[in-house]
Amino acid sequence: STERQKMENNHQKPHALMMAYPLQGHVIPSVHLAMKLASKGFIITFVNTQFVHHQITKSHHHNHGPEAEDIFVGARKSGLDIRYTTVSDGFPLGFDRSLHHDQFMEGLLHVMSAHVDELVGKLVASEPPVNCLIVDTFFVWSSMICDKYNLVNISFWTEPALVLTLYYHLDLLRINGHFGAPDNREDAINYVPGVRSIQRKDLASYLQANDSSTVVHRIIYKAFEQVKKADVIICNTVQELEPDTLSALQKKQPVYAIGPIFPTGFAKSPVATSLWSESDCNKWLNAKPNRSVLYISFGSYAHASKQDIWEIAYGLLLSEVSFIWVLRPDIVSSDESEPLPPGFRDQIKGKGLVVPWCCQIEVLSHSSIGGFLTHCGWNSILESIWCCIPMLCFPLLTDQFTNRKLVVDDWGFGVNLRDEESVAREEVARKIRRLMTGGSADELRKKVTEVRTALDNALGPSGSSEKNLNDLIDDLKVKIA
Ligand code: UDX
Repeated sequence: STERQKMENNHQKPHALMMAYPLQGHVIPSVHLAMKLASKGFIITFVNTQFVHHQITKSHHHNHGPEAEDIFVGARKSGLDIRYTTVSDGFPLGFDRSLHHDQFMEGLLHVMSAHVDELVGKLVASEPPVNCLIVDTFFVWSSMICDKYNLVNISFWTEPALVLTLYYHLDLLRINGHFGAPDNREDAINYVPGVRSIQRKDLASYLQANDSSTVVHRIIYKAFEQVKKADVIICNTVQELEPDTLSALQKKQPVYAIGPIFPTGFAKSPVATSLWSESDCNKWLNAKPNRSVLYISFGSYAHASKQDIWEIAYGLLLSEVSFIWVLRPDIVSSDESEPLPPGFRDQIKGKGLVVPWCCQIEVLSHSSIGGFLTHCGWNSILESIWCCIPMLCFPLLTDQFTNRKLVVDDWGFGVNLRDEESVAREEVARKIRRLMTGGSADELRKKVTEVRTALDNALGPSGSSEKNLNDLIDDLKVKIA
């Protein structure tokens, strides 16, 4: 009977429970990963927090009219077996998660695991049973759940491999006095495997912080201790982009670079993923010449200072370049008062469009866009490369400082917005012109287009990401059996 059991086990269908970290920049790639795996024969049960689900359906309803409660309906129509459910993050819907950020993070750390545990308990008894767990690396309870229910443990990393490696080797940074000391060393870091050399100012903001005992730090310590227990790590990056960093990591653990994780094969993603309703920029863009418009966005949750926003606003006027500026109402702080200088919205007339949120990939794909002033979120960088758009880099938080280093120093298709700590309007205007006009713009575009070609090849039938995806799936099937 053990033989028979073995045979039955060998025929177990891969059924993964996937859970997205409840932030916009994590929900988008997680949904697309689910579709990628489902297109290769996986059954996926996708879980969003009730809060994220509520935001998505609310904004989708606003843009496209009423639709079923299940965001994967469209994907299932294309034959993908993706089931969908929600779980509480431990707080009521009306709770202000960005105002009470620390409390919210504590909840994700402690309260949420109980809700997930209960859900997994049900799904391992379902037909066919769940046999893998794919959750964001920042969910610190994944190995506990995998051990309890005997699931294959898959960690999903949504940032570059370089950022993963630096967190992974946090102990090295500490021992060498570059992190966690009262007076950290300021010289270059050149001992991390797979990383030639990096300055402290290019580390993730949490690794540059003087106080290393915040809630976020506790999450980081736990997350990168337990990522070492994962059976595999999936990275939304590309082997050719970060070859040395990835191969050093791959010596430690199975790491699969399968990016960029976009919904290829669909003209537009059939799944709603936006947490806020999207303003339509197409009509406005259609009236503009090719490559003449600068797109500006600082992502989904980082804040900027009012002073910087004002200098950027005045710099834009000085540059005389047309622009679309995604300005979240809470960009400066959650009190949501007007972040722009007085009269700015009237002054820009036909020259600029300020919107609270848009469908970024659609805007970046428009032929009128010629540059991207970005906070350097990893998704934004991948999308910008995909659309061959050079970048003006203005990192604000977390991995964005490290991502800037990759774009500007290593890959050469980006320009720094600031050379010093502060941002000055004349410098902003000068940098915008350098990004958008003349030989410098052509040079940057040439470089980004080369990298776009590399990404495109990676996704092709004999490309690295496609090969890694197939290897990943073979590896998982063995681990499940
Ligand atoms: C943060 C981190 O910096 C990032 O590296 C990490 O992987 C996720 O969390 P975030 O501020 O969310 O990033 O930025 P980004 O990674 O660029 O993701 C934002 C996503 O929202 C992108 O996919 C972008 O297309 C989308 N977006 C942004 C919109 O659809 N509309 C907008 O108006 C702005």
